[in-house]
Amino acid sequence: MASAARSASRAFLRATPATSSFRPAARSTRFAVTNFRASARGYSSEAGSEKSGSSFGIWAAGLGALGAGGVYFYLNGASPKGPFVPTQADYQKVYEAVAQRLANETDYDDGSYGPVLVRLAWHASGTYDKETGTGGSNGATMRFAPESDHGANAGLKAARDFLEPIKAQFPWITHSDLWTLSGACAIQELGGPSIPWRPGRQDKEVAACTPDGRLPDAAQGSRHIRDIFGRMGFDDREMVALCGAHALGRCHTDRSGFDGPWNFSPTVFSNEFFRLLVEEKWSHKKWNGPTQFTDKTTSTLMMLPTDMALVKDKGFKPHVERYAKDSDVFFKEFSDVFVKLLELGVPFQVKPEDRFVFKASE
Ligand code: HEM
Repeated sequence: MASAARSASRAFLRATPATSSFRPAARSTRFAVTNFRASARGYSSEAGSEKSGSSFGIWAAGLGALGAGGVYFYLNGASPKGPFVPTQADYQKVYEAVAQRLANETDYDDGSYGPVLVRLAWHASGTYDKETGTGGSNGATMRFAPESDHGANAGLKAARDFLEPIKAQFPWITHSDLWTLSGACAIQELGGPSIPWRPGRQDKEVAACTPDGRLPDAAQGSRHIRDIFGRMGFDDREMVALCGAHALGRCHTDRSGFDGPWNFSPTVFSNEFFRLLVEEKWSHKKWNGPTQFTDKTTSTLMMLPTDMALVKDKGFKPHVERYAKDSDVFFKEFSDVFVKLLELGVPFQVKPEDRFVFKASE
């Protein structure tokens, strides 16, 4: 498990009751990681530290067609030095910068920005509509109002702001690639499975913002879950696997109105969300807030109405039980479906078999 997750979860555990059912999640060993350092090219850090020139927008505008993974022109005085084509090694450097920042910035929430980065990647991607081909991670339109102000996106400014120094350090990467790469990085650094990733997203302008209402409403039930995720092209099994990301993070009253974490280790990716759904007894929380559920054992954990729908619904429940029983199966199926989510609607030049598997921190 990466050190950021370790120290953050230690901090959280100190504050959790002795009745905690926390069991540390082992990093899945099913996924091989590749060491890309061997293929690092000399010029990558040079370009990475180059500041974006005022003429960059003009150069960048003409580059869409070149786009195999993104091309960045940088200027030397008045004349262009030529295109900078980032390699796998360059993206690995971005990964390492995000991982480093995650390890350094522990004075946030339960000790990690990881969960909110995962939520940013998901909300950027989950606007996809398979009928119209609109939305999805290609565009990073949540940079703009009205999308940034959509109720479902409350609190995600923290994640966007967290990534701005990385964007400044690597100006050649698009926001859309950076947000999704960071979601993959957060899953890996918090002890989750490898998330193979490929570049190629282009940022779009405000006109491409999606209408409000494309992301799920936690107060609803299984029909709503199928409507929302069906619009993106997911089946029952995939919907359940995706919701397992609620192993991470928490609800905030000043964001969604809901309150609390789903388990005792909110900075460690695990199958705890499913285990608790199956094994714990959940009752309505008595409070002056939206309907949510609390665990009988400690009354400190929470489930959303949509989370409870996963164990109530006949189509969803068998998958919840499978994932509760077998962490390796969950890790594998989550990885596959999270990759699919981050890629919805993106016109890639890089083939699926050439996806990068980033090396996680020690
Ligand atoms: C029915 C589907 C879903 C609903 C209704 C839902 C709803 C919510 C809500 C209400 C919050 C709390 C936000 C806050 O107050 O800060 C939240 C947090 C979160 N969600 Fe979901 N979610 C869903 C699916 C997903 C999926 C598919 C993922 C990722 C694959 C995901 C990842 C997360 C993460 C990591 C957090 C924690 C964020 C933090 O700690 O700041 N969720 N979700």
